[in-house]
Amino acid sequence: MNPLRWRNNQLPTPTNPIYNPHPMTTIPITDQGGGTAIIWIHGFPLSSRIFHEQLDIMGARHLMPDLSGFGRAPEPAGKTTMDSYAREVLAVLDERGIQRAVFAGFSMGGYVLLAAARLAPQRFAGAILIDTREAADTPEIKKGRYEMMKKVKEQGVKVVVDAMLPKLLTPKAAPHLVEEVKTMMLSSSAAGVMAALKAMAERPDSSDLLPRLAVPALVVVGAGDTITPPSDSERMAKLLPRATLVTIPNAAHLSNLEQPAQFNEAIQEFLRRNQL
Ligand code: MLT
Repeated sequence: MNPLRWRNNQLPTPTNPIYNPHPMTTIPITDQGGGTAIIWIHGFPLSSRIFHEQLDIMGARHLMPDLSGFGRAPEPAGKTTMDSYAREVLAVLDERGIQRAVFAGFSMGGYVLLAAARLAPQRFAGAILIDTREAADTPEIKKGRYEMMKKVKEQGVKVVVDAMLPKLLTPKAAPHLVEEVKTMMLSSSAAGVMAALKAMAERPDSSDLLPRLAVPALVVVGAGDTITPPSDSERMAKLLPRATLVTIPNAAHLSNLEQPAQFNEAIQEFLRRNQL
């Protein structure tokens, strides 16, 4: 067990030893461990805290930023797109003088990872795509995002929590985990949530990008994920030239949080096999 890992319901604060803001950055980030840099990009409407179990993965320097509007980060300034999130993530590496890293993106974080791969492929030592997809929104999903934006404006972030929470974890998930995820979602700002909904709706399709992403890749998906189902991961793994697909049993969308031991083992094996 990592002695500095977050404990249940303990949000990192400046007085907590795991809160390590880089002196030159305004991006709130957990920066812990040593070895291969892995930059973990969280999903919607969550925060870097979804990755706290991944701090147990040894031999890696874990960089876990909060994207603007989420977790400890300030509200987004200016137009938010997958590219603007990707620039926030790349700035984390720039500020630390890290040339190349393994990029790990969960769901919306996967969309951000793909934007970063388009902007700066030379920064990739590897890619970990977690419960995500390369395809753009269908017209129905896009329409739903705009309707959700309107509801968030009128009623607040709670409407997203009500719609999404039941799909993030399996019905067997421990109640404390459900509470933890709910608290995390409710801490997102309404402005951040609306900006992310629009950015996801307008993101481009990345099918053409995957065959060119020639770094070692791991695609991980919860067997019971209904938001980005295993069929999406199977398709991505086929499109990527150097991918391994791992399906995590007894997990829904948040596979890394619901089954951390199996998830971490898959990452550790991926790092070992590819000498990362
Ligand atoms: C996420 O988990 O980040 C979102 O559900 C992704 C999405 O809505 O497409």
